[in-house]
Amino acid sequence: MYNIVVLASGSGSNFEAIVKQTRLYFTDITVSMLITDKKNAFAIKRSEYLGIPYTLLPKHRRFRVLDEIIDTIKPHLIVLAGFMRIIPRWFVEEHFGKIVNIHPSLLPSFPGMHAIRQAYDYGVRVTGITIHFVDSGVDTGPIIFQYPLMVNPEWDIEKLEEYIHRLEHRFYTPVINGLLHCPYEIRGRKVIFTDNRGDACDIFRVERGEHIP
Ligand code: GRF
Repeated sequence: MYNIVVLASGSGSNFEAIVKQTRLYFTDITVSMLITDKKNAFAIKRSEYLGIPYTLLPKHRRFRVLDEIIDTIKPHLIVLAGFMRIIPRWFVEEHFGKIVNIHPSLLPSFPGMHAIRQAYDYGVRVTGITIHFVDSGVDTGPIIFQYPLMVNPEWDIEKLEEYIHRLEHRFYTPVINGLLHCPYEIRGRKVIFTDNRGDACDIFRVERGEHIP
């Protein structure tokens, strides 16, 4: 069995997708806790109806408290899903390789908080999603998985947002499952899967175009 915690500051739609998909399809993974830094986060409501305990981090010593929670729960992965805080260097160093994040663009294009809006305004014809390990920069850690989305220039921003979120919800849980089951090494900026056997690892072959599902 694997256990993970999810950190979210906002709506929590990725958190909900992860909980539902682990319950349905990846049943050896348990979401032990939602951790948030915002008392009004809609993610808290979702945790209540999903029956997942949540913790609201205090304003002071936020990451010390988080560290204590991690020490107690000992999750296999710390999953960021719309957690709007830069993680301090000491925390990243202590947990490097265990903290993952999802970002709504093809990094390194459009890092930061307004990626979808910026990609839309720029008029890009291809954008997508990135799942990466967290380092102490803003959306700069080693890339685990990316998936592209061709953009129709006639879409409005809401349409683009909807398609990006669909991709996030489709891929985050399978990638988390892959990380938990497939051996890999982080070599500098590269995440190398050293053994691609096993169904869980298919997700990384899909991304590389080696295997069309
Ligand atoms: C997602 O677009 C994610 O890529 C970004 O924050 C957003 C969170 O959305 N990091 P939600 O709270 O999961 O609905």
